Amino acid sequence: MDNLDAIVKEALDLFAGIDDPDQLEQAKARFLGKEGALTGLLKGLGKISAPERPAAGARINQAKESLESALRERREAIQAKRLEARLAEEALDVTLPGRGLGVGGLHPVTRTLERIEDLFRSIGFEVATGPEIETDFFNFTALNIPENHPARAMHDTFYVDGEHLLRTHTSPVQVHYMLRHAPPLRVIAPGRVFRCDSDVTHTPMFHQVEGLWVDEQVSFAGLKGILTDFMQEFFERDDLPVRFRPSFFPFTEPSAEMDIGCVHCGGSGCRVCSHTGWLEVLGCGMVHPNVFRHVKVDSERFQGFAFGLGVERMAMLRYGVNDIRLFFENDLRFLRQFN
Ligand code: PHE
Repeated sequence: MDNLDAIVKEALDLFAGIDDPDQLEQAKARFLGKEGALTGLLKGLGKISAPERPAAGARINQAKESLESALRERREAIQAKRLEARLAEEALDVTLPGRGLGVGGLHPVTRTLERIEDLFRSIGFEVATGPEIETDFFNFTALNIPENHPARAMHDTFYVDGEHLLRTHTSPVQVHYMLRHAPPLRVIAPGRVFRCDSDVTHTPMFHQVEGLWVDEQVSFAGLKGILTDFMQEFFERDDLPVRFRPSFFPFTEPSAEMDIGCVHCGGSGCRVCSHTGWLEVLGCGMVHPNVFRHVKVDSERFQGFAFGLGVERMAMLRYGVNDIRLFFENDLRFLRQFN
């Protein structure tokens, strides 16, 4: 019993220095286990005289309790320390700003289409659409391109079956529109067209915007004025030179192709304009009486002008893109530049 205080002190000192739960259990066994020091004292109580025994038993029990409570505290301390270490190790810095989602943008062809539509809407044109799969009649016959006409060979047509094809231009929308609306009418028809063709300036699918104005006093001079204004607005250059060259389309007479001064070199000649100083941008002309006949418009009373322009070509010239195929590869490094 004289050793009791020394045993308790030894135990408490030992427990306080332990950081590992297993070692702590082993240390506990040294004092409180079957062969433990305190257990030994308890077993020896019988040898103590009866009057002193209760006091001795109480002291040993007290010692036992103080060891047990020291063990409990130590266990909790070890656990808390381990938890803290784990939290520190797995810590996330929630104050870091997030990566965020990039904001998308409109495709350059869409932007160009919308720009063209806005400009024509602002001078009173309606916007119409038509089917991308057409019949031979709408794509050719009604546009004064009869069967076996050599003009059909100019269009590298994708046929769906004997009767249907992917439209090779937006001009058939002229026919659809005039069958449903009597003149006077002023309309543009943006949309996809298809030709079996592929190189730096041609893709099998591209976009056109068709224009059609039919009224009693429509003239070729009006056509020139409207298209000149449009090009100067589109390229944001009041002094952009333009010219009209005689051309041929079966559905217009007379027909012309419109050129603008090269927006790349300013007219001095470069690779973009094949050293001519001019860029061809659209086809146009006065609606042919045979087209009016197919849609039952009186060509004695009404005249009309029509034009068709390539949207990708306009986008290439406006943004300085030298390969049309870039528009359809959807490489984000290309597309992001238009955001
Ligand atoms: N449809 C013609 C083409 O695709 C363009 C055009 C439209 C020409 C309207 C004259 C009038 O080449």
